[in-house]
Amino acid sequence: MKQVIRKSWAEPYKIKMVELLKMTTPAQRKKALKEAGFNTFLLKSEDVYIDLLTDSGTSAMSDRQWAGMMLGDEAYAGSRNFYHLEEVVKEVYGYKYLVPTHQGRGAEHILSQILIKKGDIIPGNMYFTTTRLHQELAGGKFEDIIISEAHDSENEFPFKGNVDLNKLEALIKKHGAEKIPYVSVATSVNMAGGQPISMKNLKELRVLTKKHGIRIIHDMTRVAENAYFIQQREKGYQNKSIKQIVKEINSYTDGATMSAKKDALVNIGGFLAINDWDVFEEARNMVVVYEGLHTYGGLAGRDMEAMAIGIKESVDDDHIRARVGQVIYLGEQMIEYGIPIVKPIGGHGIFVDARKFLPQIPQDEYPAQTLAAELYLDSGVRTMERGVVSAGRKANGENYYPKLELVRFTIPRRVYTQAHMDVIAESTARVYERRNKIKGLKMVYEPKYLRFFQARFEQL
Ligand code: F0G
Repeated sequence: MKQVIRKSWAEPYKIKMVELLKMTTPAQRKKALKEAGFNTFLLKSEDVYIDLLTDSGTSAMSDRQWAGMMLGDEAYAGSRNFYHLEEVVKEVYGYKYLVPTHQGRGAEHILSQILIKKGDIIPGNMYFTTTRLHQELAGGKFEDIIISEAHDSENEFPFKGNVDLNKLEALIKKHGAEKIPYVSVATSVNMAGGQPISMKNLKELRVLTKKHGIRIIHDMTRVAENAYFIQQREKGYQNKSIKQIVKEINSYTDGATMSAKKDALVNIGGFLAINDWDVFEEARNMVVVYEGLHTYGGLAGRDMEAMAIGIKESVDDDHIRARVGQVIYLGEQMIEYGIPIVKPIGGHGIFVDARKFLPQIPQDEYPAQTLAAELYLDSGVRTMERGVVSAGRKANGENYYPKLELVRFTIPRRVYTQAHMDVIAESTARVYERRNKIKGLKMVYEPKYLRFFQARFEQL
């Protein structure tokens, strides 16, 4: 028998319905890319073969979730689906009070407005675009306190999402604890490449913040994927279920914002969950102004039902092993081709290091944006820039220049097959072979907020 090296991560489901895709020619892709201003966000989805732009809202729902959609109670107030969701959030995530929102940033907006005063400092384990913007719009200043290893794409430390407690202590000393309304902690740190935080680090952070009376607010968008890495890598967690680990993570935090469009396997939805009654009361009041009544928060009853079912499926051990297994499968192929990627491989996608891939292109000529465009041209695979364009400008107008200049290959959950992963790796390898001939881009249109979504570029 052939020696078996790789362990299977086969999916715990089979396919019941398929969505047909359009295959494009190189000429068609060239035209589409030009029309999109070399920004993959501006491509029409129809012109994309394999869509790795994001894992947000792109999951395939299960037959049970679709059945749940039929159980939508579309009452303006007090929908049965809200109470189901509330019960599931309490049971699976352990937070006391729930305010549904249309998606994650709706929760970030409300929470930031409630907790942040002008001049406050919000330390966090690396920024996320919408999260930091809401903190800034509320008058706060984000301070990065992630460990330095996270900024080095080659460092293989297993928990690159960890908080550097010394950095936090220095901030407390400098500004005083009363200037820090909360520490913003993400699990599976997106901008670092889907890197997990360890339970040990979280526990230590809890001790330190408790001493100073500072809250921890958890961005739990991809908490189940983080739990998987804890189960695989952290001593003492091998025999714990994903469900147990998720609940333990949450127990060290005071509240959370959630984009249910990721982990929770729905196409739209999010929430704010909090243990503090006073914050809840204010959030419940504010959500009426910006999202909708506190028992629907901008969602249809059927959306809340699909979310409740999706949350339960998301913490199933077999589900998460296959989900992260597929990502690792793709990453290992990339490594075999010699493509520079962020290591260790993260939970929701592969992050290619564009500085190393295209060393001839300076950051002002957008290496990651360029690489994303070239990948689309090669095979119709759509990826996303996560570098200097995404980082945007500071309040004073200067550009942020992030150390990490990445292209994200984000894998939707339960959507693509192993053969699709092969196509992606082969296409990236082809672009890598002709990397020396690739030239950068210049920005010809820049929107004021979150510029990466709508900026336009031309080839140099
Ligand atoms: N926090 C994290 C860590 C996220 O990744 C996102 C969204 C949000 C908050 C905001 O949630 O989109 O529901 O309003 N990330 C998407 C992405 C957009 O592609 O990474 P949202």
